[in-house]
Amino acid sequence: MESLKVHREQRKIIVTGGAGYIGSHTVVALARAGYHPIIVDDFSNSHPYVLEGISNVIGYTPDCYQINCRDLKDLNNIAKDHPDIQGLIHFAAYKLVGESVKEPIKYYENNIDSNINVTKFCLEQGIKSIVFSSSCTVYGEPDKFPVSEEFPIKTAESPYGRTKQIGEYFFEDCIKAGLPLNVISLRYFNPIGAEESSEIGELPLGVPNNLVPYITQTAIGIRETLTVFGDDYPTPDGTCVRDYIHVSDLAKAHTAALDKLIFESGDDSSLEYFNIGTGRGYSVLEIIRAFEKVSGKKLSHKIGKRREGDVPMIYADPSKAFKELGWRAEFNIEEALEHAWKWELKLRDLKLKKTG
Ligand code: UD1
Repeated sequence: MESLKVHREQRKIIVTGGAGYIGSHTVVALARAGYHPIIVDDFSNSHPYVLEGISNVIGYTPDCYQINCRDLKDLNNIAKDHPDIQGLIHFAAYKLVGESVKEPIKYYENNIDSNINVTKFCLEQGIKSIVFSSSCTVYGEPDKFPVSEEFPIKTAESPYGRTKQIGEYFFEDCIKAGLPLNVISLRYFNPIGAEESSEIGELPLGVPNNLVPYITQTAIGIRETLTVFGDDYPTPDGTCVRDYIHVSDLAKAHTAALDKLIFESGDDSSLEYFNIGTGRGYSVLEIIRAFEKVSGKKLSHKIGKRREGDVPMIYADPSKAFKELGWRAEFNIEEALEHAWKWELKLRDLKLKKTG
């Protein structure tokens, strides 16, 4: 492992969306592994505090460019400072499912354009290795469980989901055309939690859409009651089942993907898909109970109506990532929820002003 770290040394990796939730944890994972991350972020949905948090963990502030990925000229300017970039991880995208239904143009324009642009940037700069941030949403509503990578891509439930599918199709076409790229698409299940040190974590702007930040904000008193979206699903306790993965484990999957792209790819163009999940599903009620156990707090919650677009159940078969990337999740659900709770407590003390 140490020798791999030596090989990684000085290899510069651009992380678009590197100030975001998954992006910031990935910057930390890359730096710890010996890579040299460079953040590109327009800070439209992230807070400048993130840079301080990252620096508290890794001991230095990574180079950071406040750039929108839809601007190719700005991207190319980075290469003037760093002519030796070796890879790119593309996180920068809008991700709110509900908002995407109401504002499809915003989602198609941003997510698709920036995807095309970062690819053009890589081609112009001779960067072959790209990790694409995809989602289990590409599987739609699966018929069987756990879900493995060869399952069919089904109709996505939202414009957001479609932009992830289009992203994958786009890379497929680039590879078919023989463009000099090696791409890994990581299909994330449900990232939760925060860096163990509580220096970085999720910073949801406004009312959180996702379950775990809603839980922690309810427990700390920002929200009154959590609504469980439906308890009449065909699942063991009637609430939806998801594969919740610690964000720091998810972040490490990017290091593993880059290692494969940079050290193992041959001359041919390639595209591969990997599920990044734990392999274990938990219902909403199980998550509430686990949270109560780790936080020692009773969570105010009520059962509400189903939320449109939710699939009853989805969890990963992550065995391909283990076999081919040597990666697997290490934190368990209690640890992930404990870190999410510690982060919420830290946020209360930080009193960050809202941006974006
Ligand atoms: C959602 C997206 C997914 C995206 C992911 C990013 C959909 C259909 N999918 O996943 O594409 O990659 O976010 O993190 O939106 N829940 C409640 N009450 C709440 C909030 C959530 O009961 O207040 C339930 C939901 O019904 C769901 C589970 O908790 O069953 C998880 O929800 P959430 O955290 O929003 O993630 P997903 O919807 O699975």
